[in-house]
Amino acid sequence: MKLSCSINGVARTIDVSANRRTVDLLREDLGLTGTKEGCGTGECGACTILVDGRSRLSCLMLAGQLEGRRITTIEGLAETEQLHPLQSSFVRHGAVQCGFCTPGMVLTATDLLDQQPHPDRSEIARAISGNICRCTGYQKIIDAIEYADNHSPPVAAAPTPAQSRQQRVEQAHPTQTITDRPVFFPESIDQLWRLIAAHPDARLFCGGTDLLVWLRARRVDPPALIGLERLDELHTIAATGDAIRIGAATSHAELLANPLITETLPVLAQALQQLGSPHIRRMGTIGGNLVTASPAGDTLPPLSVLDASVDLVSADGSRILSLTDFISGPGTTALLPGEILRSVIVPLPPPKAFHHFEKVGLRSALACSVASLAALIERAQDGTIRQVRLAWGSVGPTVTRLPEIEAALRGESLNETTFAAVLPAVHQALSPISDVRAGADYRRQVAANLLLRLPEMLSESSAPAQRPADTVAASRRLA
Ligand SMILES: Cc1cc2nc3c(=O)[nH]c(=O)nc-3n(C[C@H](O)[C@H](O)[C@H](O)COP(=O)(O)OP(=O)(O)OC[C@H]3O[C@@H](n4cnc5c(N)ncnc54)[C@H](O)[C@@H]3O)c2cc1C
Ligand code: FES
Ligand code: FES
Repeated sequence: MKLSCSINGVARTIDVSANRRTVDLLREDLGLTGTKEGCGTGECGACTILVDGRSRLSCLMLAGQLEGRRITTIEGLAETEQLHPLQSSFVRHGAVQCGFCTPGMVLTATDLLDQQPHPDRSEIARAISGNICRCTGYQKIIDAIEYADNHSPPVAAAPTPAQSRQQRVEQAHPTQTITDRPVFFPESIDQLWRLIAAHPDARLFCGGTDLLVWLRARRVDPPALIGLERLDELHTIAATGDAIRIGAATSHAELLANPLITETLPVLAQALQQLGSPHIRRMGTIGGNLVTASPAGDTLPPLSVLDASVDLVSADGSRILSLTDFISGPGTTALLPGEILRSVIVPLPPPKAFHHFEKVGLRSALACSVASLAALIERAQDGTIRQVRLAWGSVGPTVTRLPEIEAALRGESLNETTFAAVLPAVHQALSPISDVRAGADYRRQVAANLLLRLPEMLSESSAPAQRPADTVAASRRLA
């Protein structure tokens, strides 16, 4: 393809395969080696760049996704011969050790300070939680970001002046033009159906945070890819009657920025806050999370307790399936060839229900859950449990609902004794597997304990959901 985009302020037309990873395009074809590749799977943040000013992982983006976009790499951050204030601050605070993670840290921090000029230390820590410093120099990195707006005289850049950086970009020639796997980005649904008809074995993708990892590991090798990110109707969030309809291509970050979601569906918002890292939340989508159908998929338990259904559409028509009917097992769904997930339909929860989601992982960011629990609880006037819905993640082939436990809890007091009484039955009913993250017994124990923590967590943290005042629609391609 002829890729037209702006790189570090220079308009470029580049002959490159749409299938080429952005990190390879930047490093190998354009010589912009300030962008590092650490893990190659979205877990370290070393490859962070800015796309239209927002931080993205270049190892999980294809060149085709850059069309018309404004890309900034570390080489283009400083606009003069002086270092950018953040770079100066990193130098002054001794926040650079091996330096491998530094470009990604600086670009992530640039995005943060653009959005929020005076973050506190915990906000900075959250923002860089997807950027790993293996030498654990985090305190100095946080200092550098905290005081970047307060900097003393800037440090002169050396020895790569802006002019020579620009020349390198202009002189660069692609080293590789892979044309074996075309990538298409339809702009309308009709165009999508034509592409699917012409390429029936093509693989769909949206954020690419799962698919690009599988491609790299050669777990899949489709002859063509079709990106759904430019289909506006897949980006809409709207309250319609008694439900909220969420377009499948809505990113996790877009959902978290939408009051309709955070105020009406707190259980979903709580899960999204714990999904991946800021980068993954900005790139990954709700539709991708559901179609991947991982037992550890963080949106699955909350959507299950919310009784969500999915709207599937193909060239021949559409159908609506409950989430239970849609996800048939680990990694498998009821999607038929030629069909896409268009939207997720979430009925409005009871107005005074309490929402809670908790996930236990091996670390607080970028952790696949060892076990998770979503709960929606409605109380009667006398404080007893009128209605309860519980859904566990990561302890079975797909989301685990235990209707007999829910029935046993109805009418009981909302306290620890009540939950302790059903614990043996929960232990018995859960069937987790052992894997690299945790053994089956440990998972079962953690999952049961999450239930035991519910009364305390509900009294402390959760807020009753509100009904939306009116329809809110959002239509954006990138967060
Ligand atoms: C470092 C890292 C950390 C992660 N952490 C978490 C985590 O904590 N919790 C969690 O749940 N997930 C996590 N994930 C997984 C992933 O980010 C999510 O599952 C994400 O929501 C996938 O969305 P996507 O748009 O990127 O999917 P893609 O990679 O674009 O697609 C995933 C699958 O869905 C299909 N697909 C996508 N959209 C559609 C559609 N509209 N219709 C039909 N098929 C479609 C694709 O064909 C593909 O099979 C992580 C991933 C990475 C790389
Ligand atoms: S190289 Fe580690 S996140 Fe991209
Ligand atoms: S400075 Fe590079 S890993 Fe810490």
